[in-house]
Amino acid sequence: MEKVNVALILGARPQIIKSMPFICLSNEDKQVKLSIIHTGQHYNYEMTKVFFEEFNLPEPTVNLNVGSGSQAQQTAKMLTRLEPVLQEQKPDLVVVPGDTNSTLAGALTAAKLNIPVSHVEAGARSYDNRMPEEINRRLTDHCSSMLFTATENCARTLLKEGISKDVVHTVGDTMYDVLLQQLPKAEKTTILDQLDVKTKAYALLTLHRQENVDSLENLKSIISAIVKLKKTEVIFPIHPRTRKQLCSFNLYTKLKEQKHVKLIEPVSYLENISLIKNANFVMTDSGGMQKEAFWLKTPCITLRENTEWVETVQLGANYLVGSNTERIVKTAEEISENEKELCKKLEKLPNPFGDGCASQKILTIIKNS
Ligand code: UD1
Repeated sequence: MEKVNVALILGARPQIIKSMPFICLSNEDKQVKLSIIHTGQHYNYEMTKVFFEEFNLPEPTVNLNVGSGSQAQQTAKMLTRLEPVLQEQKPDLVVVPGDTNSTLAGALTAAKLNIPVSHVEAGARSYDNRMPEEINRRLTDHCSSMLFTATENCARTLLKEGISKDVVHTVGDTMYDVLLQQLPKAEKTTILDQLDVKTKAYALLTLHRQENVDSLENLKSIISAIVKLKKTEVIFPIHPRTRKQLCSFNLYTKLKEQKHVKLIEPVSYLENISLIKNANFVMTDSGGMQKEAFWLKTPCITLRENTEWVETVQLGANYLVGSNTERIVKTAEEISENEKELCKKLEKLPNPFGDGCASQKILTIIKNS
């Protein structure tokens, strides 16, 4: 039997996480030959290699080592370095997960070489074109020939944009697959002890979106809110981009002086899941963490004006507050005051993100295509 030759293109932290079950299932499947192409968008140990180690994943087949740069520089480097690799590998299809510059570059290079593109996490929209991720998502969807969506809502969006229903498959969210598989291991991590925090006695903060951290006004406003939350212990794993910006805006020292704030290096996947699960609430501008908080029944305050994951907001588990100091503080206080009732409500919510078998469904559809 001839094998299906699949090239998976990834490069940034969340893409490695969401691809984990697909990589494992493909490697176990005799009908599939998988090659992992890492663009090198993320290169620090804690932004990429730690996840390969934690999930026991094979080393990428190729690393393009593009590194950091402006949007155009980074994407252009990916395009020029990917083309010869795909020309040589001649995959039957290319799989691109998520919405990063690596996603768009992978989709565009493959589509122009007439290699079919499968987009995992298709149809997610924030309707905010100031976000590079929104542009990446839209363009990737429209040059893909197989679109895998996490929710029914994402599928409806694609149909509204004129994409044929024959190529749209609602399979569920691969991040939910990962969470279900890894939760028992996450529960065994010692991160809470290492940080000397108790379960349900702290808030978790993450921040990395360009629109927040590259804007002095927004970053200052968010940091002011964190400084005001004196009664809440805040754990803040800092993304490299955010650390750089805090330093250049002279906000880092102010934050470091706060007794109730613990600044730490980026954490591993298992540690992050443990930190989300045991937090009173999460404050984040990450897309993935909004969903992880939802699945782990931890209230989430989203430091953005919009979200792709509207279901979490509609169900009352996620509060969209943007970067406004007062709104952040008020929402955090309200959550703290109503914690018990809120947690009871979160326990009972339906899950619109599938049944934890999205990756298997994707693989089956790809093999039968
Ligand atoms: C990227 C994705 C974003 C995703 C995020 C997860 C795009 C447009 N954005 O954002 O959707 O949520 O990854 O983390 O693709 N840096 C390092 N070491 C690294 C990686 C980054 O120091 O290993 C620093 C560099 O200063 C770099 C900056 O972070 O300039 C931004 O990195 P980049 O990959 O451009 O975007 P992210 O903010 O990580």
